[in-house]
Amino acid sequence: MDLPIAVLPGDGIGPEVTAAALRVLEPVTKKFGHRLQPQYASVGWAAIDECGQALPPATCAVCRRNQAILFGAVGRPDRDQSLPPPQRPERVALLELRRGLFANLRHIVLPPALAGQSPLKEHLLADGIDILIVRELTGGLYYGRPQEIIGQAPQRRAVDTMAYAEPEIRRILKVGFESARRRRRRLASVDKANILATSALWREVARAMAADYPDVRLEHLYVDNASMQLLRRPGDFDVLVTENTFGDILSDEASMLAGSIGLVPSACLGEPDENGRSATPFYEPIHGSAPDIAGRNIANPVGAILSAAMMLEHTFGLLQEAKVIRAAVLAALRDPNYRTADLGGAATCSAMTDAVIAALGA
Ligand code: IPM
Ligand code: MG
Repeated sequence: MDLPIAVLPGDGIGPEVTAAALRVLEPVTKKFGHRLQPQYASVGWAAIDECGQALPPATCAVCRRNQAILFGAVGRPDRDQSLPPPQRPERVALLELRRGLFANLRHIVLPPALAGQSPLKEHLLADGIDILIVRELTGGLYYGRPQEIIGQAPQRRAVDTMAYAEPEIRRILKVGFESARRRRRRLASVDKANILATSALWREVARAMAADYPDVRLEHLYVDNASMQLLRRPGDFDVLVTENTFGDILSDEASMLAGSIGLVPSACLGEPDENGRSATPFYEPIHGSAPDIAGRNIANPVGAILSAAMMLEHTFGLLQEAKVIRAAVLAALRDPNYRTADLGGAATCSAMTDAVIAALGA
């Protein structure tokens, strides 16, 4: 099949890890008889330097024309300061590209070979870790209005708004329940229902929906407790579903269970609107642009490579191809010689990618 994809490398380590993902995609798609059709476009500071905008109209057009977006990272803290927050690439490019994509899947796996990498004690990792975080991505504090700073210093006030409508809660919980059904049938719904109205509604909706999923074991956790239980019993978590801000925080915490944020891929998925159109699904490693290590060929490419695997699975339905990539990553990670610095090794980004490519046929 044809695989038309928009590739947006962006800033910092974005170009290196995206190149690695493409190097892995090429042989896999070829082997299975597909035609990979990458179309490159600029984003972030790379785009500002080219044409003055972090998300140029030409890039939006490329994204609309293709069936998936493979994204690297945006942002350069040294230059971000020169712009007011609403004009920084994170807001202008990242949040804009995610618009309409309400389901953010972040997959955290601790391969047995890397148990020693985890900061947790080994007895907590006896069963390994395989957690799918389903984060609501288009509501809550990020988008609720008002969101502003009011008045004059030193008496200013600031307000953010957390708002959720029932249908928004229902559609993300549905992704949670259905993902659990395809996995180990356990769903942790995380909220702060003892305090927040949005969470009380969330929990009520989750309870009502549970009747349709008798095969899924649902537990409700307050977010503070969830952040503790992730460290205390990580192997018990299968799918964790939560609202936007809680998901942002918990996914960074959970990524460290696996030893490095550099290992974690993500997908942002939407649903067709009333005209049958949906925003282009978006795939990115959850790490940022890491400017301190950019251009040195030492970044961990695994988050980007596994994001490409998620793209094959979710956008193109190529489950077997995705599985081949995941198996090759695990095989490559088994050898300490091919681990990058974040995993305690000395391998370059390209050497680790070579190892993944070499393992594809195995
Ligand atoms: C993430 C990031 C973003 C978010 C920022 C950069 C806007 O932290 O992808 O987790 O909060 O969603
Ligand atoms: Mg984050």
